Amino acid sequence: MEIDKYFDSVTWAEIKALANTQETPFVVVHLETIKKKYQELHQCFPFAKIYYAVKANPAVEIIRLLSDLGCYFDIASIYELDRVLGEGVTPERVSFGNTIKKAKDVRAFYEKGVRLFATDSEQDLENIAREAPGSKIYVRVITEGGETSDWPLSRKFGCHTDKAMDLLILARDLGLQPYGVSFHVGSQQHDIGVWDGALSKVHSIFTRMKLEGISLKMINIGGGFPARYISEVNDIPTYSEDILRFIKDDFDDELPEIILEPGRSLVGESGVIVTEVVLTSRKAKNDLNRWVFTDIGKFSGMIETLGEAIKYPLYTEKKGETEEVIIAGPTCDSMDILYEEYKYELPLDLAAGDRLYWFATGAYTTSYSSVEFNGFPALKAYYL
Ligand SMILES: Cc1ncc(COP(=O)(O)O)c(C=O)c1O
Repeated sequence: MEIDKYFDSVTWAEIKALANTQETPFVVVHLETIKKKYQELHQCFPFAKIYYAVKANPAVEIIRLLSDLGCYFDIASIYELDRVLGEGVTPERVSFGNTIKKAKDVRAFYEKGVRLFATDSEQDLENIAREAPGSKIYVRVITEGGETSDWPLSRKFGCHTDKAMDLLILARDLGLQPYGVSFHVGSQQHDIGVWDGALSKVHSIFTRMKLEGISLKMINIGGGFPARYISEVNDIPTYSEDILRFIKDDFDDELPEIILEPGRSLVGESGVIVTEVVLTSRKAKNDLNRWVFTDIGKFSGMIETLGEAIKYPLYTEKKGETEEVIIAGPTCDSMDILYEEYKYELPLDLAAGDRLYWFATGAYTTSYSSVEFNGFPALKAYYL
C-alpha cells in the first residue's frame, strides 16, 4: 500500500514517532487531515451547511476542531448532545438526526435549545410536537442505494414518499414547522447516481406539499461520501459536481437550503490503527492459509469488517515474500475474524510482536469499540 496516498513523509514520521512510544492496540488520529477534508467539502458545496455526524468519531478534539471551522453537528443521542454542547457548540448548530428517540430525550434537547428534528413515524412526530413544540421537522425518506454502498442505512430508517407527505402535513397540524426532507443513500456510497433518484423523490415531495400549502425549505442529502479504503473511489469534487447538477436539474428555480451530514468522508482517512501480531498458526500441517491473530478484532474497533464490508489498507514494515492469510482478532469468540474471504497478503516471516498499521481507520472505530469484552479495554486514541 502507498502511505503517501494518506500522509506526506513528515506527517507519517510524526505518526510513527508517537506510535513507537505506545503499546498496541491504539489509533492515531491526524487532525490536520480532518481540517483539510472539511475545507475541501466546504469548497465543493459552498452554500451548504455541513453537519458532522458525530457518531463517526465523537472525540472532543475533533468536535473542537470542526466547531472552530464553523461546522454544524448531526447528533444521535443525548450523550452526544451533552458532549458537543460541553465543547461550547450552541444548540442552533445542532440537529437531532436520529429518528428513534425517547420522548424524554426530545424534551431534553428542546430544553437545551435544539429546534431541528428528524422523524419518520407518527409516534415520534407526536412526541416532538408535545415535547419540543414549534420545532422544525424534516422527514427522512427511504432511498435506493443499498447495493452500491458498503454500509447500507436506508431500510431501518426513513419512510416511503406517501407516508413522508402525511407526516409533513401532520407536523403542520400539530403546530410544528414542516421544514424539509432528508435521506441517506448508504455509507461509503460508490454510485453517485443514487443521489439523482433520491433528489427526484424529494422534488416530488416539495411539489406536492406546495399544493397542500406547505412550502418546504431544506434538503438534507445525508452522508455517504467515501473514504479511501483499498478500492478506488471517486474524489469529493467528482461527487459534488454531479450532485450539484442533480440539485440544479430538479430545483433550478428555487434552490432550497442544503444540509450535508458527512461522517466517514471527514474523519476516516485521518486515522491509523496500530496493532501487533499476537501469534500466527496453521490449522493443519499442509494448510495453505496461515492465520494471523492480531491484538485488535471486531469488538475492539473493527466492527465494520462485519461481512468484510470495509476493507482497510494494511501496511507492515516487514518486506519480502508474501502469502495470503486469514486475519483474526484476539477474543474467544469465533466470529472475531476480520478477513477470511478477502485475502490480505502478508510476509511469510511475519511473527508475533510485528506491527500492522491499518490506514483510513478514523471513522467508526473508537466509537464502536466495546469496553470490556473478554476483559479487553476500549480502543485507545491519540490525537496529533
Ligand atoms: C443520520 C445519519 N447521518 C449521517 C451519517 C454519516 O454517514 P457517513 O459516515 O456515510 O458520512 C449517518 C451514519 O450512520 C447517519 O446515520
